[in-house]
Amino acid sequence: MDVAAPVMPGDQSTMARAPVPTLAVEVLTKRFAGLTAIDGVSFAVKQGEFVAVIGPSGCGKSTLFNIIGGLIDGYEGRVLVEGEPIAGAHQAIGMVFQEESTFPWRTTLDNIAFPLEIAGIRKSERETRARALVKLVGLEGFENRYPAELSGGMRQRTALARTLAFEPKILLMDEPFAALDEQTRLLLGDKLLQIQQELQQTTLLITHNIAEAVQLADRVVVMSFRPGRVKRIFEIDLPRPRDSAIVGSAAFGQYVAQIWNDLREEASKGLSASEASLARRSGNNEGG
Ligand SMILES: Nc1ncnc2c1ncn2[C@@H]1O[C@H](COP(=O)(O)OP(=O)(O)O)[C@@H](O)[C@H]1O
Ligand SMILES: [Mg+2]
Repeated sequence: MDVAAPVMPGDQSTMARAPVPTLAVEVLTKRFAGLTAIDGVSFAVKQGEFVAVIGPSGCGKSTLFNIIGGLIDGYEGRVLVEGEPIAGAHQAIGMVFQEESTFPWRTTLDNIAFPLEIAGIRKSERETRARALVKLVGLEGFENRYPAELSGGMRQRTALARTLAFEPKILLMDEPFAALDEQTRLLLGDKLLQIQQELQQTTLLITHNIAEAVQLADRVVVMSFRPGRVKRIFEIDLPRPRDSAIVGSAAFGQYVAQIWNDLREEASKGLSASEASLARRSGNNEGG
């Protein structure tokens, strides 16, 4: 049996053994032609942790998502997976997008099996694995349907299952439920909580929805508007396993209120900026 050595106060070796976060971003800054989209963004996601990043539209959330996922470059700072800096797309990170991303010409099962096909896994095994994922996301009975025959929520679950088929160390999602109605969103949140519980999946969710962030996350990173900076990080100390019934609790309401208190100022800056840009545009139209 392994017996731990006695620890002396200030022992450097135990400090060195502090767990390395599964994902870390360090002082990320990205500028687009004169506009600083994000500025000095740093935070980390521990093994098995669920972190949500929240901020108003235009605060740089998708920029952050694209940098972490390796879809854009030309930024300052670093992205680290288990302490190793990465550049470009990385197999440890599985992405789920806001936009529809299922293949319309493939059935649910074949959509989900796609990464396994790419990986060269033989047909019988990939079917077994794809069926397990169908079950995980609750799409039994729809294996042979095409995306056009599914609801928006089912298509997003198909996309989620397809990403999970890679067995990514980190699940990275950009507003995956934004196009869905509130009730579907809450129920899909439940599904995601179950999956998280079952796989202990390290997850970074980008969202503009406060209730969604509080329902799902262990920590919520609040971003400021233009430039996007980390304004505050909230620990969400709600019990797990959780489900959407939690939205009725007083503690849930308190977290939502606290986060909104922080976000309100940023959201109103975002609104003013978009209204100013609309005003400029209609001004231009009148002018010519
Ligand atoms: N490829 C790009 N070129 C120029 N500006 C961009 C580009 N992508 C995003 N931006 C700008 O960066 C800011 C942040 O955008 P984005 O990351 O999409 O925000 P969010 O996802 O929070 O709505 C916005 O002002 C947006 O117009
Ligand atoms: Mg976005």
